[in-house]
Amino acid sequence: MTFYEILFFYIIFWTAVVSPTPILNRRYTPKTNIFDLTIEKVTLSPDGFTRQLSTINGQYPGPTLEVNKGDRIVMRVNNQLGEPTGNLQRIFSNVLFVVRVSKRILQIEILAIHAHGMLQRGTPWFDGVPWMAQCVIPNNFEFTYNFTVPDQVGTHWYHAHETMQYVDGAFGALIIHDPDDPYKSEYDEEIIVMLNDYHHTNAQILLKQFLTPESQGVEAPPGSKCVDNAGLAKFEFVKDKKYRLRIINTSAFSAFFFSIDKHEMEVIEVEGLYTKRTKIHRLPINVAQRYSVIVTANQPTDNYIMRSEFQKKCMPDAASSLPIIKAIVHYEGAPDDSEPNDYPWSDSLTECVDLDQKTLQPLEVEKIPESTKKLKLDIAFHKNDTGVVKAFLNGSTYIPDINFPTLDKLFKHSPINETSANAYVFDKDGEVVDIYFINADDDEHPFHIHGYQFWVLGTGNGAKWHLESGLLMQLITLPDEILKMKPPKEWTELCELGER
Ligand SMILES: *[C@@H]1O[C@H](CO)[C@@H](O)[C@H](O)[C@H]1NC(C)=O
Ligand SMILES: *[C@@H]1O[C@H](CO)[C@@H](O)[C@H](O)[C@H]1NC(C)=O
Ligand SMILES: *[C@@H]1O[C@H](CO)[C@@H](O)[C@H](O)[C@H]1NC(C)=O
Ligand SMILES: *[C@@H]1O[C@H](CO)[C@@H](O)[C@H](O)[C@H]1NC(C)=O
Ligand SMILES: *[C@@H]1O[C@H](CO)[C@@H](O)[C@H](O)[C@H]1NC(C)=O
Repeated sequence: MTFYEILFFYIIFWTAVVSPTPILNRRYTPKTNIFDLTIEKVTLSPDGFTRQLSTINGQYPGPTLEVNKGDRIVMRVNNQLGEPTGNLQRIFSNVLFVVRVSKRILQIEILAIHAHGMLQRGTPWFDGVPWMAQCVIPNNFEFTYNFTVPDQVGTHWYHAHETMQYVDGAFGALIIHDPDDPYKSEYDEEIIVMLNDYHHTNAQILLKQFLTPESQGVEAPPGSKCVDNAGLAKFEFVKDKKYRLRIINTSAFSAFFFSIDKHEMEVIEVEGLYTKRTKIHRLPINVAQRYSVIVTANQPTDNYIMRSEFQKKCMPDAASSLPIIKAIVHYEGAPDDSEPNDYPWSDSLTECVDLDQKTLQPLEVEKIPESTKKLKLDIAFHKNDTGVVKAFLNGSTYIPDINFPTLDKLFKHSPINETSANAYVFDKDGEVVDIYFINADDDEHPFHIHGYQFWVLGTGNGAKWHLESGLLMQLITLPDEILKMKPPKEWTELCELGER
């Protein structure tokens, strides 16, 4: 796909955030954490190239949100992207597919923040998915997300969900510390490593290229400014200390192999679930995935390369031109300016395939329940009638109803059976559903489900992040139970704002 040519211009940005010591107390009393998040455009040069980014509180990436298991998370999201507030509703009624083609409409930013990995039990209206779970937050407007994490722990992230603002910088790490972390005594410090395919071009322009019939590569815009000596990200190690690296893949399109020269890693967490310790050298990590690994600083005091290699097979057209992205692990006492030698791990891994589920065992073994329902879905990518390549699930490409979010429809007893909603209703309590994705396409397509953790039963040949292309389905579970719940009035009012 020509879309891959765009990848040529990608640079991965590394971010190191050393977390403060988590509060660890078995009789921990949950508290409410209030985070003020202002989404605004700021000109920054995180990798030396100066461009405008959509930031959270002016930072790239956004602030790390740290809470403890059981806490309440309150995110006061203030949209200051500086876009027109006018008659939103009317503009939105033709924005979604026009957004990629019309310059004027390209200026419009729509906003909703999704806390990725949060189950949102009892608060589906705070899931932050525009037109499914909520109406968008207009400019100059504050909307508060307010939910608890009663039985969740681990490494997660939060991001703007739509129009790929997160690709332009609107994302950050969300860490839920566990007062009862079974691995607590096995590491001394935590380091957050965020991997991101950072672009020199505005994500909406990238997306437009991807979604137009003749897509082409994107170059740095004329007049672009560069800053010297941006340098490589540096991660500080102290000899013999053990580090828990929380690795978060916030990238839009690219899969990587992550490794640190001469250092083994032991996987202990996958997306909020503890695993048995599994020793690896190179970690495959795909869009939106998170892993925690323990790394021991057991090598001679020196500088070592931390590397992220593109899984080139998943990007055939650009394969020869993709760089290896590097950062430095600097041991205390090692020279500051010496260039580390290359000692890449030589383990050969199959590209475009996740870490083998068989080697990743949950710490607490769970018995997989018998399924009570099977759902088979064919994935296909082909041109729609206008010649734009779109994703189809069983022949249907997802088109949101931008005037009426699905959840709001449910509360208002309005039908949700439009073919383009790709909505599947599960109304039996305790239903166990096996979902089969049959990929007729050459590319890989990572899937995740909001609100659930799931068992991967098996994979065969085959496996992007293709939400903007319509590769999306909605699972509406227990609608009768949803109807017994009451969304906050601020949420209901968001949908009425456009008419003001
Ligand atoms: C968050 O929700 C709780 C429970 O509904 C409520 O008591 C609290 O006032 C809310 N806080 C904010 C800041 O909205
Ligand atoms: C992050 O996810 C993207 C999307 O699949 C993937 O291409 C990329 O390789 C992943 N990054 C890492 C470090 O795996
Ligand atoms: C999708 O299409 C396949 C046939 O191509 C069919 O077997 C399957 O039942 C369909 N899935 C749904 C959910 O309708
Ligand atoms: C094909 O997709 C494009 C981009 O999403 C959209 O503008 C166009 O209306 C679609 N064509 C049809 C016939 O659905
Ligand atoms: C949706 O359901 C309504 C009534 O329940 C029905 O009249 C309509 O034809 C259905 N539409 C589709 C696309 O199935």
